Amino acid sequence: MFDTLDAVRDDFIRRLERAATDRHLPMHLATLATSDADARVLVLRAFDAEDWTLRFHTDNRSPKCDVIRADPRVGVLFYDRSAKVQIRIKGVARIETEGPIADAAWEAGTNFARRCYLGEGPGTRSTQMTSGLPPQFEGIEPTDDELVPARPNFAVIIADLQEVDWFFLSHAGHRRAQFTLADGALQGRWLAP
Ligand SMILES: Cc1cc2nc3c(=O)[nH]c(=O)nc-3n(C[C@H](O)[C@H](O)[C@H](O)COP(=O)(O)O)c2cc1C
Repeated sequence: MFDTLDAVRDDFIRRLERAATDRHLPMHLATLATSDADARVLVLRAFDAEDWTLRFHTDNRSPKCDVIRADPRVGVLFYDRSAKVQIRIKGVARIETEGPIADAAWEAGTNFARRCYLGEGPGTRSTQMTSGLPPQFEGIEPTDDELVPARPNFAVIIADLQEVDWFFLSHAGHRRAQFTLADGALQGRWLAP
């Protein structure tokens, strides 16, 4: 079924497009690695196979944002255990807190989800166990007015894809293909797994 590079290309595009919109799919959760040898789970919010970007949402105060600003190289890892498919992406990322993409992403969120950006920044030390949220919003949805101070903390991470590595586990023999983006087009090749 994955006999051609075109079939593999179609497979990873379809998987990532669906993963961005279906929270039940394993690839809805990505592992984002940054240049400081750190990695963390993020929700994949969008995958665009026309301009080859992935989008994530985060808190602008989180350490990974400064790491990406200093060195934009990122790796993004996906694995679907039942499909036995691993997708690894290399790219360069940018942080946007303003502009049409960040504004649209903020508008699309629920107030309950947006309340996370009202609290302490991720990684802020605390003398006691904490959610970081202001106590009045623990489990409580803020109003639009109450969310105004949260908006500057919200950021999108846009990763421009440069290379895709696709791996399929198979009893008959694993399969692996790699694609590099050059002049807007993917150049594919088979690799020994
Ligand atoms: C299932 C799951 C989903 C998560 N989704 C996000 C997310 O979409 N955005 C985000 O910033 N952090 C998300 N996190 C938290 C991150 O993994 C991470 O702890 C946080 O962003 C701080 O990362 P940093 O210290 O590397 O900046 C998620 C964690 C888990 C376990």
